[in-house]
Amino acid sequence: MTQWWRDAVVYQIYPRSFADGNGDGTGDFAGALARLPYLAELGVDAVWFSPFYPSPLADGGYDVADYCDVDPRFGTLADFDAFVAAAAELGIRVIVDIVPNHCSSAHPAFQAALAAGPGSPERDLFIFRDAPNNWQSVFGGPAWTQTPDGQWYLHLFDSSQPDWNWSNPAVPALFEKVLRFWLDRGVAGLRVDVAHGLFKDPDLPDVPDPSPSDRPSPWFHRPELIEHYAGWRAILDSYPEDVFPGRRTAVGEFWGDEITHLEPYFIPGGMPQAFNFFLFRTAWNAPALHHTITASIALADGSDVVAPWVISNHDVMRPVSRYGGSPEARSDAEVDLALGTRRARAAALLLLALPGSAYVYQGEELALPEYLDIQDADRDDPVFRRTGGARLGRDGCRVPMPWSGTRAPYGFGDNPDTWLPQPPNWAPLTVEAQLDDPDSTLSLYRKAIAHRPKGEFHWLEPEPTALAFTRGAGFACVVNFGGDPVALPDHEEIILASGPVTGGTLPQDTAVWLRLNP
Ligand code: GLC
Repeated sequence: MTQWWRDAVVYQIYPRSFADGNGDGTGDFAGALARLPYLAELGVDAVWFSPFYPSPLADGGYDVADYCDVDPRFGTLADFDAFVAAAAELGIRVIVDIVPNHCSSAHPAFQAALAAGPGSPERDLFIFRDAPNNWQSVFGGPAWTQTPDGQWYLHLFDSSQPDWNWSNPAVPALFEKVLRFWLDRGVAGLRVDVAHGLFKDPDLPDVPDPSPSDRPSPWFHRPELIEHYAGWRAILDSYPEDVFPGRRTAVGEFWGDEITHLEPYFIPGGMPQAFNFFLFRTAWNAPALHHTITASIALADGSDVVAPWVISNHDVMRPVSRYGGSPEARSDAEVDLALGTRRARAAALLLLALPGSAYVYQGEELALPEYLDIQDADRDDPVFRRTGGARLGRDGCRVPMPWSGTRAPYGFGDNPDTWLPQPPNWAPLTVEAQLDDPDSTLSLYRKAIAHRPKGEFHWLEPEPTALAFTRGAGFACVVNFGGDPVALPDHEEIILASGPVTGGTLPQDTAVWLRLNP
């Protein structure tokens, strides 16, 4: 199949927190290389690396100072190439993260813009004005910062992340070079950060409600994006597909407040994949998820753009804590871990049975909870700082991975002084502790990835408290959300269950995969 990504499982690596090979307390390519066999055994088709480029790390590397190199903390370009080559040996493709909406204020182009002064061509690469408008940063606070000469520049995120001016042709030209730089190195695809950003209404109008949202606005979901991504698709398609990594892909981070906000991207020749984040945003109940899944499938129907499913990534609360507490929980005490784990395991079977591809975020396969009790002084996310602590930010889902042992750094590396602290109670969650336990969440993910169903998706008769669907003639997935056990359809065999199932009925917060009677 040339479009390998259509039903792939892609594993997201957050490089700072995956594996530390050089003992500095921060993850790196050497660490990731050593853990490649783990990823092969998990059975993933590709890995997506969050940014590893030279960066002040003011936003975890999404503040890029050089798009075509590797930050020394993560290794070198040669280390990157070695990872890509070793991954290819195992049949694993590599996707890199492209950050086109903004760069780091340390990027030479922004430094040159500051030095060149108002009205200069250097400033026109960014969005400088003599006075700000009322737009707000996604991370909280105003979206404008004043420079010493009195002008202001736009940053939809942190003040250390100035927005590029995409209406200046030099900016698309620069990014075309960046794309080709990584595609020429053999990457299979690109994850495009804030893909619904980039172009701004040239009038920069004040808006009636400037509070952050993902609806179409003078800064998000601009019509210019459609033609722009058709151009990127043409670049991807210009690479030969007859050798590994095959046809090249891109997956856009398109947030919307409603599914309909994503409709414009589902056109022939659009970006090949647009993330579907609506599972995150849907509460743990059958009717709401039924609606989200139906609408998501309809979105991609008949288009050559696909909408991969996700239940976690580096920007949202981990499913165990979301389902066992709430997205607003602020301390570990507010989370019922047993409940959250039960639901997260059921959600995993749902995720991996849905039609199309799924992205799995490192640690999701271990059922890691969010670490909410990180001390304020240890927090790193600019969201925490910019909102004066009103929003805790995303550090809790970015804690270094626990690989082995009974205390920090849990085999993450040699250095117990990890860049974010790990909680004291993660010994039972390490890879080592879960690997040989057939009932562990890691085993559940491994088996589910190995046995993902194919075939057409159809809902079975709706039950008020359960979801049930088939994939092809012989497979069904059933998830029970309600208090009463649900009768299972006639089946030959239970392929996988997220929890104990006895007597032909499915308990609450449990999912099963069934082989149906012929
Ligand atoms: C995306 C990234 C997020 C980052 C933001 C700004 O949403 O996923 O981590 O903070 O863009 O680059």
